[in-house]
Amino acid sequence: CVDIAKLPKETGCFTYDPGFGATASCKSAITYIDGDAGVLLYRGYPIEQLAEKSSFTEVAYLLMHGELPNALQLSGFEHEVTHHSMMHEAFRTFLYGFRHDAHPMAMLTGMLGSLASFYHNDLNIEDPEQRRLAAIRLIAKIPTIAAACHRYSIGWPIRYPRNNLEYTTRFLHMMMEVPSEPLELNPVAAKALDLLFILHADHEQNASTSTVRLVGSTGANPYVSVAAGVAALWGPAHGGANEAVLKMLGEIGRPENVQSAVDKAKDKESGFRLMGFGHRVYKNFDPRAKIIREMTYKVLGELGVNDPLLDVAMKLEEAALKDDYFVQRKLYPNVDFYSGIIYKALGIPVEMFTVMFAIARTAGWVSHWLEQQNDPENRIGRPRQVYTGAPTRDYVGIAQR
Ligand code: ACO
Repeated sequence: CVDIAKLPKETGCFTYDPGFGATASCKSAITYIDGDAGVLLYRGYPIEQLAEKSSFTEVAYLLMHGELPNALQLSGFEHEVTHHSMMHEAFRTFLYGFRHDAHPMAMLTGMLGSLASFYHNDLNIEDPEQRRLAAIRLIAKIPTIAAACHRYSIGWPIRYPRNNLEYTTRFLHMMMEVPSEPLELNPVAAKALDLLFILHADHEQNASTSTVRLVGSTGANPYVSVAAGVAALWGPAHGGANEAVLKMLGEIGRPENVQSAVDKAKDKESGFRLMGFGHRVYKNFDPRAKIIREMTYKVLGELGVNDPLLDVAMKLEEAALKDDYFVQRKLYPNVDFYSGIIYKALGIPVEMFTVMFAIARTAGWVSHWLEQQNDPENRIGRPRQVYTGAPTRDYVGIAQR
């Protein structure tokens, strides 16, 4: 590992690394991934242990502060996150300006960016306490904003956060219709969503987190930095994959159609990829996918949901894992492969899947933003390029062209 910044300028060292496959853009103490061994640690704690024993708010505290909270610290943190969960009333007018059928990720990006217009003027990002408060506000408000986007898009009245509920249950309550047996009060649903939030909370320098850091490196406020992260997350190669997986499974439709989908994905000319397969860093099984896979059976069983797409997904995984093309390229199911099936079982509409990811990842984004603001080595992010355009030439007047 060469620290190019420390090489003498005279070496003229310059690297070309499209997609940053071999370039570290920062130092970070938040999340560790060993892609060959399939290891993921948040602040040193294995994801498997956190998934089994922790809660999303505890994990959010851990990511932000570096240590697990004691009981008093956790209740203080949860109190603050609850206290800041309301949206300014003017947000409603802003939200109602969107087309009724706007994608919730489009609305979320705009709404989060607009938080800057409410909180930026008074924000002094030199002050660590104000930075911490901005991070809390983002974690607290994103479920309220996300649920409001969903309810607006289907024409339901917006629900205010119920502060006697904890984070995940509060979100489900704001999001869902009131069914006769309220899903939001179903502990299986709340526990499943909390676990998905833990698994999605951070993943070091992925495209969206790097985007948050790049915007943050300019001194821009945390609200627009995180809004930029949401925009980056939306793409189907990143967080948009969970929505794309469910669409793909629906299109495959039946287990007997799986082989032709696998064959199509191997044909480069087709432009089709198996969504939910492959990862830049994991060249072994994604440890989050392992946990989600087990959880899918449990949650569907406990909720009494019989989803034929699960059979398609299992068959697809089996076919791909036996296929030389996927084996040689080390393409395994990633975190998004099974998560959509669980979201669907919880009654969350497909277009909200990436929004779910964004709610969870906000904990990671704000932790990276805080770490960056504290980092004495933080400089404005400014990649270079390899110029491939025309050499110097003289301007030609329009009549002579
Ligand atoms: N289906 C078929 N072939 C694939 C797939 C796939 N899902 N993913 C990669 N490949 C092939 C590529 O065509 C390439 O083949 P080649 O070496 O013969 O040219 C090889 O595997 C390497 O692929 P790259 O695109 O170079 O890998 P990269 O690390 O740049 O991309 C990515 C990783 C974006 C995740 C990719 O695997 C992909 O597009 N997967 C599908 C989308 C997806 O599931 N994204 C979610 C990722 S996890 C997350 O962000 C939460």
